[in-house]
Amino acid sequence: MSLASLLDNLTIPILQAPMAGASFDAMAIAVSEAGAMGSLAAASVAPAEMAGAVAAMRAGTDAPFAVNLLMAPAARPDPARVDAALARLAPWYAELGAPLPAFPNRFAHDFDAQLDALTRAAPPVASFSFSILTRDQVDALHAAGSLVVGTANTVAEARAWAQVGADGICAQGFEAGGHHAYFLEDIETSSVGTLALVATVLAAVDLPVIAAGGIMDGRGVAAALALGASAVQMGSAFLLADEALIGPTWRQAIADAPQDSTRLTRAFSGRYARGIENRFIRDMRAVQDEVPAYPVQNRLTQALRAAADQAGDPQMMSLWAGQAVTLARAGEAGEMVRLWWTQAQAATQALATRMDRGAPDP
Ligand SMILES: Cc1cc2nc3c(=O)[nH]c(=O)nc-3n(C[C@H](O)[C@H](O)[C@H](O)COP(=O)(O)O)c2cc1C
Repeated sequence: MSLASLLDNLTIPILQAPMAGASFDAMAIAVSEAGAMGSLAAASVAPAEMAGAVAAMRAGTDAPFAVNLLMAPAARPDPARVDAALARLAPWYAELGAPLPAFPNRFAHDFDAQLDALTRAAPPVASFSFSILTRDQVDALHAAGSLVVGTANTVAEARAWAQVGADGICAQGFEAGGHHAYFLEDIETSSVGTLALVATVLAAVDLPVIAAGGIMDGRGVAAALALGASAVQMGSAFLLADEALIGPTWRQAIADAPQDSTRLTRAFSGRYARGIENRFIRDMRAVQDEVPAYPVQNRLTQALRAAADQAGDPQMMSLWAGQAVTLARAGEAGEMVRLWWTQAQAATQALATRMDRGAPDP
């Protein structure tokens, strides 16, 4: 089946965004069972665990689902840079009374091994962020029976994914919460709003486009579909779901978030990501260009973020969230997608009524 038909056959053309650290199989299964499509965030799944994680999805639902990997580059950082980065983080660790980590022997799972395991597990859809697969890797996923979605922040990235044979593009706008997928240009060139990105990607590539970034309810779903997207991908809208894995401090930070309070930061992970602004983001802003690139800085701050979460201190946690996060509401994930689809239908009806009225007589 093509990705276009798969998306067209969904009762509800909403994809739950994979959210490493914030969602896993319970949310993905609930969303797929509701007639939309869940995504398993598999970035932190070790290669040896991949088959089991995909089997758990298959056991939970007969409906289609996606599995997502973040394409972390192999990290062999200069030890002196790692020591300097740790020295910069030392006062933050000390403030929490947490030990400064030793030099890690691994910064992230080996992506090639994760990809091999994922290809063998053959999920219905495999989606990727942060870089691009080779044509051979895409061909192997196709041969195994998986459809491939590549995430793009620019038209050039969408074209690159089309050239390696991807089945569809997840067009991730600047509004989006969490890490941004850019891989060809710098963050400034890659900061395109969802509305502009979806329209220009649709004009440039002949593939189904999934709109992501800033879509929080049925009005956003209707707007993206009207623009020509085949489906939407929503992340922040699920952060307060019962199935979300975030703890009480992150949930409270979302509930308390002032309007316009998210920022793009490189300080936590060495790759730009959007989250609710806190003291760590503010105080590290001046030096964020100097921290080691993802996944090194991400690994070095991992224990700090965990200790802050444990201590209930939101000022040193990566509170990933999109620009419209103040619209997030609590609920059960399956009920949420059904509600958003009802809202999308109502928004479309209201617009159709407005259209039918036509132009006023001159
Ligand atoms: C907490 C969080 C974690 C995320 N983790 C991932 C991930 O593991 N893989 C990925 O491709 N995208 C990830 N994203 C980005 C989403 O796929 C999506 O692009 C984004 O949530 C859309 O914007 P929105 O948050 O405004 O809905 C994450 C987003 C959030 C908020």
